[in-house]
Formats: sequence, structure tokens, C-alpha cells
Amino acid sequence: MEEKFRPVSYSVTRVSELMIPAYANFGGKIHGGMLLSLMDKVAYACASKHAGHYCVTVSVDHVDFLEPVNVGEMVSMYASVNYVGKSSLIVGIRVEAENFRGGTMKHTNTSFFTMVAKDDDGKPTIVPGLILETKEDLKRFLEAMKRKELKAHYREELRKARLSIMQEDIDTLLKNERCKVTMI
Ligand SMILES: CC(C)(COP(=O)(O)OP(=O)(O)OC[C@H]1O[C@@H](n2cnc3c(N)ncnc32)[C@H](O)[C@@H]1OP(=O)(O)O)[C@@H](O)C(=O)NCCC(=O)NCCS
Repeated sequence: MEEKFRPVSYSVTRVSELMIPAYANFGGKIHGGMLLSLMDKVAYACASKHAGHYCVTVSVDHVDFLEPVNVGEMVSMYASVNYVGKSSLIVGIRVEAENFRGGTMKHTNTSFFTMVAKDDDGKPTIVPGLILETKEDLKRFLEAMKRKELKAHYREELRKARLSIMQEDIDTLLKNERCKVTMI
């Protein structure tokens, strides 16, 4: 059977939502979890449209909230498929918040959601390949490849560190840390 491909533009997804007081924390700023939930929905819509299947969230990278979001601001999320593997897709999401009174727009974060397409039996299923139509599409695809490679390397280093950490000189390791070891 001939392999199926879809362009990035086919599944580009944009969602905007007004930030209401019910979304705020005790400091009057919008809960990070509220933004994450919205991002997860946008990632789902974008990935499922490309895949033509139901998708699940497997991993989320780079959730650094660079700017607080305030009540009354309009949050917009722009999502596109940056990369596809066999059953996995990486969706990049740019989040911006617009303040109507000040007429300002701020970039709050860009995050990457790894989603996996599932078939009717709940098993990972192959997704269409990606047609890279613009220089930006190509750049995002190459960057996603690099992030995947670095993530695999980081995981391996972390695994090794976990195995050896308790064998190291604890006093030296904790010399500049703000903790007290009270166990015997
Ligand atoms: C993710 C999941 C489908 C992997 O299942 P699996 O049987 O291990 O399947 P595979 O090993 O074939 O992996 C499937 C794909 O997921 C990718 N994957 C698995 N774990 C991953 C991780 N931690 N980070 C990124 N990608 C991952 C694999 O690389 C593979 O990609 P590819 O098909 O493009 O090569 C399975 O663990 C799952 O369903 N998890 C729950 C997801 C969920 O319910 N999320 C909602 C939040 S509760």
C-alpha cells in the first residue's frame, strides 16, 4: 500500500480563550495548570487531525512560563506538527497572551507535546508522513530530531547517575546545598 503523507498546514490549529477570574490563583495570575490543560487539548486536536486517529499525550517538553498571564487577557495557542515518527508526533505549541487595554502581546512559552496515535484496539498505529512545505517546517522538523536525540542522551545519563549516586561522597556532593541529613 502506498505510504500516506500530509502537509504541516493540513493540521495547523489555533485556539484563543479569554482568561476569566475562575482561572486565577491566589496571586491573581492564571494557574499554570489551566494553561497546560488548554495546551493539551490543542495538541490533541492538531495531532489527531494529522493522524486521522485518536491520539494520547506521552510526554511534554519545555514548559517554562516566561511571563505571568493575567485575568482579562486573551490567550492564543498556535499548534503545528513539527515531527512524525512511526506512531508518534511532536506538536509544537506557541502561547501568546494579548492585553487589550495596554494593546500589548507577550510570548509566554513554547512547548513540545509528544503524542501517540492509537488504533481502535488501543495499540500504537502508524501516522501519515509529513510534507515540509516551508523553510520553517523544515527547521522545526530538524530541531525536533535534535531534541529527540538530546533527550535520549539525557535519559541514558540520568539512568547511569541514578545507579551511581549513592556510591559517591555524600558530604562533598551536598557541601553547597541547603539541606541537613538527619538519618542514622
Ligand atoms: C505511549 C504508549 C502508547 C507507548 O506504548 P508502547 O506499547 O510502549 O509502544 P511503543 O514502544 O511502540 O512506542 C510507541 C511510540 O511512542 C514513543 N514513545 C514511547 N515512550 C515515549 C516517551 N517517554 N517519550 C517520547 N516518545 C515515547 C515511541 O518512541 C514510539 O514512537 P514511534 O512509533 O514513532 O517510533 C503507552 O505507554 C501509553 O498508552 N501510555 C499512556 C498514554 C496516555 O494515556 N496519556 C494520557 C495521559 S494520562
